[in-house]
Order: sequence, then C-alpha cells, then structure tokens
Amino acid sequence: MTSEPHVGLTGLATMGANLARNLAHHAIPVAVHNRTFSRTEKFIADYGSEGPLSAYESTADWVSALSRPRLLISMVQAGAPTDAVIEEIIPHLDPGDILIDGGNANFRDTQRRHRSVAQHGVHFLGAGVSGGEEGALNGPSIMPGGDRDPYERAVRPVFEAIAAQVDGTPCCTYVGPDGAGHYVKMVHNGIEYADMQLIAESYDLLRHGAGLEVPEIAACFEQWNQSELESFLIEISARVLAKTDEASGQPLVDVILDAAEQKGTGRWTAQNALELGVPLTGITEAVFARTLSALKSERVAAAGRLAGPAPGTSRGDETLVDDLGHALYASKIVSYAQGFAQMAAASQAEGWGLDLGAMATIWRGGCIIRARFLDRIREAYGADPALANLMLAEFFAQALERAQDPWRRVVAKAAEMGIPAPAFSSSLAYYDGYRRARGPASLIQGLRDLFGAHTYRRIDREGAFHISWSGDGAENEI
Ligand code: 6PG
Repeated sequence: MTSEPHVGLTGLATMGANLARNLAHHAIPVAVHNRTFSRTEKFIADYGSEGPLSAYESTADWVSALSRPRLLISMVQAGAPTDAVIEEIIPHLDPGDILIDGGNANFRDTQRRHRSVAQHGVHFLGAGVSGGEEGALNGPSIMPGGDRDPYERAVRPVFEAIAAQVDGTPCCTYVGPDGAGHYVKMVHNGIEYADMQLIAESYDLLRHGAGLEVPEIAACFEQWNQSELESFLIEISARVLAKTDEASGQPLVDVILDAAEQKGTGRWTAQNALELGVPLTGITEAVFARTLSALKSERVAAAGRLAGPAPGTSRGDETLVDDLGHALYASKIVSYAQGFAQMAAASQAEGWGLDLGAMATIWRGGCIIRARFLDRIREAYGADPALANLMLAEFFAQALERAQDPWRRVVAKAAEMGIPAPAFSSSLAYYDGYRRARGPASLIQGLRDLFGAHTYRRIDREGAFHISWSGDGAENEI
C-alpha cells in the first residue's frame, strides 16, 4: 500500500468514526470526510494520533487525495442522505473507482444505486456492517455485495483485516451481486428483532410468571449464557438486567419506558417475506410486538378496562424457569430456520447464489446475533447446501424434539396466565404447522371455491376443479 490515503471514508457518526479508527489501527491510511467539517476536525483532534488518518474539508480535495483506483466508504444514514452523498461524490470519481455503502440500506435501493453508479463506470458495493459501535471499532461482521472482481481485488484485503475473526476465519465474505449484502444484513437484523423479542418474553415470564426478582433474572440469563444459548444478546441481557438506575435506585429496566423503537430493517424483513411468500412468523411477530409496545397510552387505558385471568404468582415455579431455557432455544432455532429459508428464497428469486453456510460462518463473530449455535448452522449447510429447512438438519431436529415438551408448557402457561408470548407461540405454531403432513387448508380451498369459484386441486388427480355449488352440486374439471 502507498502512503497516500488508501481508503476514503465519509460520515463520521459513531459507526463511521469507529470504522475509520479500526482501519487506521490496521495501518490502512484513511482520508476522512464529513458533511460538517467541525465533526471531522473533532474526530482528528480526538483520534488523529491513533494511526494514519488525514482530514479533508471539501469533497474534491478528499477524493483527489486517494490512491487509484479509489476506494471510498460511505457511512451515512440510509435513505435520502445516502443518495445525497453518492450524488455529491460521483462527479469526482473516475471509471474503475469503487464506492461502498456501509449503512443499513434497503437492498432495493442498493440495487438501484448499483445500476445508476455503473453508468459512470464506478463499481458500487453495498456492505452490511454489524456489531454496533464496539464491533465497528474492534471487528465487525461484514456482508459485502456487488461487483465481485473489484471486491476480490481491492476491497477484500481491507475488509478481512478489519473484520472480527473466529478460529482464524474473518467474519466477512463476498455475499453476492448487487443488493445481496444489504439483503443479508436486513435478514440479520430481522433475526436480531426475533432474538430480542424472545429474550423480552422470557424476562416477562420469569418475572410475572415465575415471580423472580430482576437480579435473579439477570443471574438466570448469565447461567443461560453458559449453555447452548450462549450468545451476545443473552450476555448483554444479563448486563442490562443487572444495572441499577442511579437516580431512583431501582433496576434500570423498571425506569425505561416500555415502548420499543425501530429504524426499519425488521419491518423490511417482514415485508419482503410477505412478498416472497415465506412464512416468517417469528420475526414478523417481533416487529408487531414492538409496534404494539409503542401504543403506550392505549395500553394504559386498556389495562383498566380489559379483563385478564385472575392474577396469581407462581413464585418458585422452577419448572417454568427450566422450561423457558428450552423454549427459548427451540424458538430461536425456528427464527433462524425462517430467516435462512427467506434468504434461500430471495437468492432463488434474485439469482444471487447465496451460500447459506458462509452466512452462518460470518455471523459467528462481530455481529449482534453472534451465537454459539451458528457453528451448528454452518455445519448443517456445509453437509447439505440445499437443506430445505434448518429444522430438518439432524442436530436441530433432535434439539427441537428434546425441547418440545417444555416449549409447549411455556406457551400453554403463558396463555393461561395472560402473559403475551407472541414469538414463543408463533414459533411453536410454525414448528407444528411445518411438521404436519396434512393440514386444514383443504377447507380454506373449499370455501374459496364456494364463494368465489377459485377452484381447488385434488390429492388424487391433476387439474383444477370447481363444484357447481348453486347448481347441481357436481364437480367439474376446469
Ligand atoms: C447491527 C445492528 C445495527 C442497529 C440496528 C438497530 O447489526 O449492528 O443491527 O444495524 O443496531 O439497525 O435497529 P433498530 O433501531 O431497528 O432496532
């Protein structure tokens, strides 16, 4: 590498700033830029001594300082700000330069940008970057998509240097063409939503079902983190639950407003699943649970009006505590199974050729959903890349079999106690629906035929059929 800045990074909010520092820590010379120059100046004042970082005020100076072909990373907010940055940069670039969007873009936007940027001979990559601010600084999981050749030639060594490593393998791999990287990041975030919803439901049931105090629940999560449930989100759940609010002396979780926010990636995942026709119940319930939580004032009013079962505490209900660990693990398997099925369907629809085992591999470290069992997912797709559903892999089929009784007890108890557990129950319903060789949809088809002559297919012969419901009642092949 020359001593000229090798990478240009624009957008010095937390993720961008930390990614620039991560690059510099790996001795990769970075030219930084931000829309407001004061932020760039502050960044250099705070971190300029950490490595080869240089600052530029104007876009023209920043771009022309870079070695060729140029490698530029945009770390600005998804949506209009990303379009604005691209529009600003493009006139300064030459054919062969590489522009990377490292934000949480919608993959359809990335596909559009990929097409429009290509008209200038510039390569556009959409890279999902996961791991929050800590990951960006010390090693994120990176999901790059777009043109493969420039990626392999110029981007791969840079990304592999700064990504998290697990067993010597970087948590970064080329994902696929155009929007594939941002798509995979979107599904990652959808799974993140489902994981967090399952954790929240577990906390709720431990507290209001088993009657545990918050510090006891923190200890329970800590214990779970020593088991097959070991994951970053379980680990940090213990930390959040153990935190006391300095002002009130209460557990922090008791003073945080119970209305979950979202920036949109979970909703996009659910919307895309609806478009693809993939049953993505866990993630979708998690999105709806956030939107229901946000109806705070309506919920407060309804609490005084709508009846539930008579309150009772089952303090010391050890069965529920034990059962919850199993229910959490089984439901987690289901949400990953659904997310991976969605990626398989999208890969087929978009012609991306996604390697699902490789996606599990790069999610083992750095990202928010990193978890011990991702190694098992990697093995499952390694053994059978065309696996129809993760639940069918021997390891997971057995795990679900072991967990199913406690899982059912948790869902039943939650319903009895009036404690909402949408992610637990929808995951169990998916499991039961998926393992059902014959279900009740035949009746739906019959109804559709009666009221709308929509026809039905038979189990015993090919063709579409319709009953003359208002006539002689005979079946006709259409
Ligand atoms: C990550 C996170 C990151 C961000 C989410 C939060 O992988 O590092 O997913 O991208 O924390 O976008 O999303 P919500 O604000 O929608 O919860």
